[in-house]
Amino acid sequence: MSPEPNLRAAALDSAASMIIPAHVGIIMDGNGRWAEKRKLIRSQGHLEGLKAAKRIVKAASDAGVRFLTLYVFSTENWKRASEEVGFIMGLVKQYLRGELDFYRENHIRIRHAGDPAGLPPDIARELESACRETCSFSGLQVILALNYGGRDEIVRAARKILDAAGNGGMPLITEKTFHSFLDNPDVPDPDLIIRSAGEYRTSNFLLWEGAYSEYYVSDILWPDWTETEFDGALKAYRERGRKFGGAR
Ligand code: IPE
Ligand code: IPE
Ligand code: MG
Repeated sequence: MSPEPNLRAAALDSAASMIIPAHVGIIMDGNGRWAEKRKLIRSQGHLEGLKAAKRIVKAASDAGVRFLTLYVFSTENWKRASEEVGFIMGLVKQYLRGELDFYRENHIRIRHAGDPAGLPPDIARELESACRETCSFSGLQVILALNYGGRDEIVRAARKILDAAGNGGMPLITEKTFHSFLDNPDVPDPDLIIRSAGEYRTSNFLLWEGAYSEYYVSDILWPDWTETEFDGALKAYRERGRKFGGAR
């Protein structure tokens, strides 16, 4: 049983060296394995994965996380069977439409990372409308990484730099200027990147932004995630010593 919300808040508050990561990224993996274990079709796993995502958005908002990037669909996930891809896109649409009241109540802002041009037009429209309708909300910012690949983001940034330069010659490229052409340049780098379902790889997630992120890998399959697992990741983060290349 999860603790009551006020007990959970108290538990989070009472940690002597409480450090809540400003930005958490999550590679929500293991939906297929969750379904296979139960002899269900993969779609059922994605459906349960969506419920877990809703639980974790609430948990992150309650914990005071400011930015939460959810890896929903990668640039490589198009390789999957068209039925699975279609089902996931349908779920995304349902989520964007169905959660608007929840975003309003919790002041949650929805944003996108990834290439909107590669999305089915109805999904791109729905995403744009959710981003627009929530753009003034000042609570947790949920960044949906959808048709997202770290390499693709870097390549698109390089193209934007060339476009912006036009015929005026190449600007001086520094890390700072390059960063300003990424999908969400105002969002701080993720402090913590969580991966469910036990794989130790980035799978093309936030390659630039995650240069100094703390990684937390859990064997728990994504559909089984509750605030207890999320709090476990926050606790592990608090115990890390971040050095950013410096000496201590
Ligand atoms: C993550 O779960 C969801 C997406 C990548 C869209 P998977 O579908 O990758 O689940 P596994 O890895 O097959 O268990
Ligand atoms: C990463 O999971 C992508 C998302 C969670 C959206 P994958 O299941 O696609 O990654 P690999 O194939 O195991 O590396
Ligand atoms: Mg997977």
